[in-house]
Order: sequence, then C-alpha cells, then structure tokens
Amino acid sequence: MVTVNEDLAKRSKFAYNDIEEDDAIASKIEKTGKEVIKLNRGDPPQYIKTPDYIIDAYVDALRSYKTGYVDMTGIKELREAVSDRYARSYKAKVSPENVIVTQGVSEALAFLNNVLINDRDQAILFAPYYPQYMPLLQMYGGSPIIEKYSEKLNWNLDIDSLGRSLKRMAKPQLRKVKYMMITNPNNPTGTVLKRDYLEDIVDLANEYGLFLVSDEIYDEIVYNGAKFTSVSEVANGVPHMILNGASKVYDSTGFRIGFMIIPGTDKFSSKVSAKLKDYATVRLSVNTPAQYAIAAAITNKKEHEKAIKNMVKEISDRVNYAYNLLKKNEYLDIVKPNGSFYIFPKIKLDLLKIKDDNDFVVKLLKDKNLQVTRGSGFGGDGHFRIVSLPTKSILKESVDRINDFCEENKKK
Ligand SMILES: Cc1ncc(COP(=O)(O)O)c(C=O)c1O
Repeated sequence: MVTVNEDLAKRSKFAYNDIEEDDAIASKIEKTGKEVIKLNRGDPPQYIKTPDYIIDAYVDALRSYKTGYVDMTGIKELREAVSDRYARSYKAKVSPENVIVTQGVSEALAFLNNVLINDRDQAILFAPYYPQYMPLLQMYGGSPIIEKYSEKLNWNLDIDSLGRSLKRMAKPQLRKVKYMMITNPNNPTGTVLKRDYLEDIVDLANEYGLFLVSDEIYDEIVYNGAKFTSVSEVANGVPHMILNGASKVYDSTGFRIGFMIIPGTDKFSSKVSAKLKDYATVRLSVNTPAQYAIAAAITNKKEHEKAIKNMVKEISDRVNYAYNLLKKNEYLDIVKPNGSFYIFPKIKLDLLKIKDDNDFVVKLLKDKNLQVTRGSGFGGDGHFRIVSLPTKSILKESVDRINDFCEENKKK
C-alpha cells in the first residue's frame, strides 16, 4: 500500500489556544460530579440574552428565505449601516465600499495578516494583548515586536517607551513592520485608552510610517466615567484600519459577524482595501441571515440604545462588584476597569507559595474548581483574567474561592 506523506504544514504548529488546556482539566473535574465555576469566556449571550429585536430580525431574514450566497464583501445594507454608525458616532467618513464583512474579528485578523505579512515581517503588539493576534500573525510567517501597556498608567499606552523603541529601530527593520495593533477598550485589562495617548500614537505612526490597526470590538461597553475615542476620530490622514463587530456590543457572539473598516483614501489604504476584497472572493460570503439581523440591529437606533444602556449598566454593576470584592484581597493588585468586562489582577507572587500565573490558575482550578485565564497567554505574566459577566452571587462565590485559595497558599 502507498503511504501518504504525513508531514503537516510547518505553519500548523502555530494553531493553538491556551484555553483548551484548562478546559481539559475542567472537564476532568466535572466528570467526577463536581461543578466548575467558569470565568474564562468573554461570551455575553451566555449571561445576558441577545435582545429580542435582533433575534426577530434574524428570524425574519430566515422566513424571507434570505438563505443564499450574498455579496462576498458583505450585504450592502450592513456595510451601509456600519458606515453610518462610524459617521454618526465618530464623525468618520467611511464609504460602504471600504467596509468588509467577515466572520467575526477573528476572520478579519486572518485577512489582515494574509494581505500584509510576508515571511520575516513583523507587527507591533502591545502586551497584554488579545491572544488570537499572535497565532494568526505567526501562521503567515510574521513575528511580533512586543511593546507594553503600562500598568502604572492604568494600562494606558507608554508612549515614551514606544517612542524610544521606534527610534532605536534601524530603517530596514522598520520597513518590515507591517502594522501596529492596539485594542481599545482592552481585553484583558478592561482599559479604555485616553484620547491624548491615541493622538500620540497616531503621531508616532505618522513619523515612522506605520499602518495603525485599532480593534474596537468593545467600543460601546464603556463605564466608570470613561470616554471612548475611536482611532478614526484622531487619525488625521494617517493610514489605519478599524476592526469591529457584532459579537460584544450587539450581544451576538454566535452570529459570527465582524467588520474591517479602512477609512483612508490614500494610495496604501486603497490598495489594502482592494486586496481584502479579493480575499473575500476566495472564501465566498458570510452567514446571510446573521448579516441581515446585524444590519437591522445597527439601524434600529432606538432599540439598540435601550439594549446597550441596559447591558452596560448590568456589566458595570458586575465588574465594579467583583472589583470591590477583589481589591480587599491583599495578595492581588488591580487596576480598576472602565471598559469591556474583564478584570486583570496582578498576583503578588512574593507573598504566595505559587510559582507563576500558570501555577496559580491550574491550582485554583484543581483546588477550588474555579476557572480563570492565565495572564501569560495575554503576554501579561504574573496576572490572571476574570470574565466578570456572571451574576453577583456567582462572582461573590468566585471571589470567596480566590480568597480562600490565597490564604491556603500564603507564605508563612
Ligand atoms: C479584543 C478582541 N478582539 C476580537 C475578538 C474576537 O471576536 P469575534 O467574535 O468578532 O471573532 C475578541 C473576542 O473575545 C476580543 O476580545
């Protein structure tokens, strides 16, 4: 019998997600009949129902048999709705032609790297970062240059440090840097970046010729007095791309709808936009009824305003509740979040008989049946991430377990 060539593609080694390892431990515990509290998935519909007006729009699309392939870059109604939303909220002039609908921001990341990254190219990421940025960059042959959000600046950008790093880079290296990615509001830190930091980063992008990518998937989930600024408001002609989607703000992670927005009319932006559209033709179109549902969701401002107001109130109540309980724990240091729905405590490892954040997360899961996410997976070693979406009683129980765990593992 002829044997097949068993070599997998080299790039396949980059396909991983830390979550799987902890999920395997959690399922083992669950098989023994114990219940595991899971604070590890940023999945709002699990906790706050997708609004009925969006469900109705989805059902209407199905009932009208909108079930075939559609425009590969996204239905016109949705691209127009996204363009209007950015004009309305951020005074950004975006032609619907420069909006591309993807299967979530996750697919947008694949598009981005597909179009820009050659072997040995680089991208600037800021740690802590959303983990999925990394495998997709690496799969396409790229590597990251890691800059840092500053915990001392409440996880805002450390512009001076970025300026120094860019200054140190020689021209040939800079030419290999294909984009610089920020996440605002942030996952995992829950920080909304201040406008002046964004203006500074735009200036640096301009000075060093860097394409700026801003992941704004949590743009309306902002509270505790913070004000969100879109990069499109401050870009001032600097070529940039906005990533956004329906998953979080429209409470519909399972619909798998994301958007890439390339507002610029400069030569490079036009080239990127055209090539992204070519990529869309390779994978055909995105889920059709979901696109109609999200077009209706964005267009129905009255219903959306009601839904997002309730959602942000619920989320901020839950985040602040968990934050206020956690900050009493003397083994943790926490920056108060003001956006998204995550809390990212630093573990005071010098006070505990715990080696690092991996050790903390795995032991917490095994000993207390509480699943959180390791900070090192976000490039934030020594931290862990909590998804603060469950009810207050679950959050209280979770913090009790963390407190007990820390007490049981404190250095004598
Ligand atoms: C910052 C950030 N970007 C992108 C995504 C992926 O979202 P989508 O559901 O649109 O693929 C997430 C999901 O948690 C996220 O936190």
